[in-house]
Amino acid sequence: MWQFENERERGRKGDLAPLTYDRKPLLSTELIMPDKKVYIETYGCQMNVADSEVVLSILKEAGYSQSEEINDAGLILINTCSIRDNAEQRIWGRLKAISHLKKKRKDLKIGIIGCMAERLKEKLLETEQLVDIVVGPDAYRELPLLVAEAEAGHKAVNVLLSREETYADISPVRMDRNGVSSFVSIMRGCNNMCAYCVVPYVRGAERSRNPQSIIKEVKELYEMGYREVTLLGQNVDSYKWDNGDSSAGFPELLETVAGISPLMRVRFSTSHPKDISDELLYVIARHRNICKHIHLPAQSGSSRILKLMNREYSREWYLDRVNAIRTIIPECALSTDMITGFCTETEVDQKESLSLMEQVGFDFAYMFKYSERPGTKAARKYKDDVPENIKSERLSEMIALQNKLSSASKKHDVGKNFEVLIEGASKRSEAYLSGRTSQNKVVVFPGENHSKGEYVNVIIERCTSATLLGRIV
Ligand code: 5AD
Ligand code: SF4
Repeated sequence: MWQFENERERGRKGDLAPLTYDRKPLLSTELIMPDKKVYIETYGCQMNVADSEVVLSILKEAGYSQSEEINDAGLILINTCSIRDNAEQRIWGRLKAISHLKKKRKDLKIGIIGCMAERLKEKLLETEQLVDIVVGPDAYRELPLLVAEAEAGHKAVNVLLSREETYADISPVRMDRNGVSSFVSIMRGCNNMCAYCVVPYVRGAERSRNPQSIIKEVKELYEMGYREVTLLGQNVDSYKWDNGDSSAGFPELLETVAGISPLMRVRFSTSHPKDISDELLYVIARHRNICKHIHLPAQSGSSRILKLMNREYSREWYLDRVNAIRTIIPECALSTDMITGFCTETEVDQKESLSLMEQVGFDFAYMFKYSERPGTKAARKYKDDVPENIKSERLSEMIALQNKLSSASKKHDVGKNFEVLIEGASKRSEAYLSGRTSQNKVVVFPGENHSKGEYVNVIIERCTSATLLGRIV
């Protein structure tokens, strides 16, 4: 979920409609370069994937079409992630490789957008001089103007954060994954000050998007043939819309989105253990098409570390929320994010993380070594005192445990029936289809003339480490 993804690979698989030029030119640059092509590469979280789709929509309005081939594009944008140092290092490497293209193509423009733009604008423009355009996550509407600036030979920068921008009125251009499932951003920014996290600094304060615009977007997706949406926010539980006339929290929003069509599955990410309410759990339980999977990052199983992390809950509170989920939605899958080696973490804290994971029996987990991020509370106040080799050892230990838990979770499904939404042919063979259960587990089965976007009932016959295998019943 929080892995690097390459937009180009995704774009190739998809069936994106061609972009058109049926509008009046907005910028003088269009007259110079009528066939303007942009290539976007996306790193980081699902929010960045959704943002790249907004960026493409804005550029399409300004006369660009999407290129799936980096060598055809006059504008290359890299949508970046700052969450951990290795994310940034990987992007620096890529940027250096791409900047070589400029030697052969003098008019090529390269832009860094997203979280690294916000964090590293000076270094990007001045020290390294690899890029022409630097645009932060709240300034994408300015992109056409900034590209024009760059084409006129100036460095173009806008990293201002906004208290209002939600891009509510922009219909994202789907840089399509499979034509079946898509992301819809419902809020931006974050007001939680987790001590390790750079997100509030690079994405600004939390703001919720107008629910009408969310519902409109989901309806459009349904009409285009999509059958699953994931509502995205850094902390969806604190979604709040109030404009004087109407107000809604996340439970109401989720219920309204679920009401659009029983054939449209709804997922959401990310929930915060301190905020997830029983009211929300009852909404999930009531609606068949709200997927029975909650991503509920624990980060640590030690109350002492959770306090230092400023997570605002204890181990006991987390386990109480898990109990509520198990009681209200018995068939619900649970996943988590975990960090090893946070400041002052001891072997005892590590054991508590492992025991929490075991006690909950997570179906999936994303696990990371702590990476100090400049400017965060942890960087300012605590010492990054767990040696790298210990962080790595603890991470390996945690991954080994999660492999066992994931495998147990899949074995538990063997012999059961699941409703599966088909996402397309399986990677290995056209004769097999691949889809997901409501619990977000991947299922592969013989196709029998069914196609993507359809629901089928599949009985699970066996499983591999990553996949459930079955047949349609
Ligand atoms: N170091 C390591 N992992 C981090 N995460 C966020 N910030 C850091 C950091 N500084 C992890 C958290 C979060 C996920 C998206 O990334 O687990 O939930
Ligand atoms: Fe997403 Fe956070 Fe990375 Fe930004 S820093 S791309 S919000 S994971």
